Order: sequence, then C-alpha cells, then structure tokens
Amino acid sequence: MTRTVRLCARGDVEPETARRFDVDGHRVALVRVGDDYYAVGDRCSHADYSLSEGEVWDEEREIECPKHGSTFSLLTGEPQTLPATQPVPVYDVRVDGDDVLVALPETDDVGGPET
Ligand code: FES
Repeated sequence: MTRTVRLCARGDVEPETARRFDVDGHRVALVRVGDDYYAVGDRCSHADYSLSEGEVWDEEREIECPKHGSTFSLLTGEPQTLPATQPVPVYDVRVDGDDVLVALPETDDVGGPET
C-alpha cells in the first residue's frame, strides 16, 4: 500500500538541486532536474548521510553522496560508484498543477518509522 503525499510546490526546489523532506517516518530527497522531479531515500545506503546535501548530476540523472562520493541513480536508486553497494529506495513522483506529490509506502509496510 502506498499513500500519496504533497511534498511542496514546484518552485520550492530549484533546478539541479535537492531538498530533504521528512514525511511519516520516511526521509525523502526530492531532486529536480530541469522540470523533472525524482524522489529517493535521503539516507545514503553506506552510512547515515543526507543525499539531498549532495550534488545533482543532471545529465547522468544521479545524486552524489556528500560524504564519500557514491552516486545513486535517480531512476533506480542503485549506486553507480563505490563505496556504497546497496540501493536507496525510489518513490513515484507526480506533478499535479503546482504541487509535487510523492507516493510513499504506508509506514506499517516498512516495519515502523525510520529514525
Ligand atoms: S556515506 Fe554515502 S558514500 Fe559513504
């Protein structure tokens, strides 16, 4: 089960940047590339660092972890470079008018709130 949540207005995230949102126990990095929006888990799979503080690689559609430099696909969540070896979650994003919406798993589906 997923639940659709409004994260922000379209203009709240500048192109080629990311912003963190904490929603219902999920840490989400909303990434904007041009007029496209992507949402991935904000916590790097290598250690607890915030991907939304990293650099957005627009042509590659990746985001770089600010700590050790692993990049993650915005399309699949898979790491493209070491040291991370595990993917981060990817969430469906939809733009409705001026709103950016994301589909999040119900918190019960992931075994409780993330910390
Ligand atoms: S914490 Fe992200 S690559 Fe190490």
